[in-house]
Amino acid sequence: MIGVFDSGVGGLSSYRELKRLLPSEDLIYLADRHNAPYGTKDRDTVLKYTRNNIKALRKKGAEHILIACCTASSVFSLLEPEERRQVTPIISPAAEAALTHGKRVAVIATKQTVRSHAFREAALAKNPDAKIFELPTQILVSLVELGARDGELLPREGDLLDKIAGEIWTYKPDSLILGCTHFSSLGKELEARLPGVAIIDAAVIGARALVAEISDTSRRESGISTYTEGLKT
Ligand code: DGL
Repeated sequence: MIGVFDSGVGGLSSYRELKRLLPSEDLIYLADRHNAPYGTKDRDTVLKYTRNNIKALRKKGAEHILIACCTASSVFSLLEPEERRQVTPIISPAAEAALTHGKRVAVIATKQTVRSHAFREAALAKNPDAKIFELPTQILVSLVELGARDGELLPREGDLLDKIAGEIWTYKPDSLILGCTHFSSLGKELEARLPGVAIIDAAVIGARALVAEISDTSRRESGISTYTEGLKT
């Protein structure tokens, strides 16, 4: 069973991608609405929530866990090695995907994710020449929780996205990372406002990274059993 968690509805984009890629796998989704939003909390508080969610999903039987929340993924390195076991964070795969489009990368994310500079660090670890522009857009989290979706924006929501896209445009980025899983729901709106900029959805890329990890592990394990069986004969 695969466990997926977020502070709210954002991680459902990851959940849907997992369902598409692994239709027969059992999935369980945890929305920590009681503690939402995460992006306005400090690092230690987010770490505490992340630990609790991992524990709760394991208790329910999850063998692999996707942290379908960039804010929670930004504290991944602070978890104990035992807590990190079979847990996939989504920042690094998204940074890697963005860099395939060029080294100028814009990121929109929650306040706490931007404060952590986790996207910047992940991108620079892959390419030290990368230019990363991180923009906090916490307000979009509440908008999405209240129902804002691609193609269904109220005029004032459209105006807000125009303003945010205008600021992103000044960086002349090759790509824009939707660095909060809630922003998946606004990907098409942002794409329309930023022609020529590749939109990287951390929620979807993260789900694919977990699937790749699982298939790597099972390939390795079947390799090991073939090898040990070979030794026995
Ligand atoms: N969806 C989350 C993220 O990816 C958290 C948003 C929030 O609760 O502030 O960062």
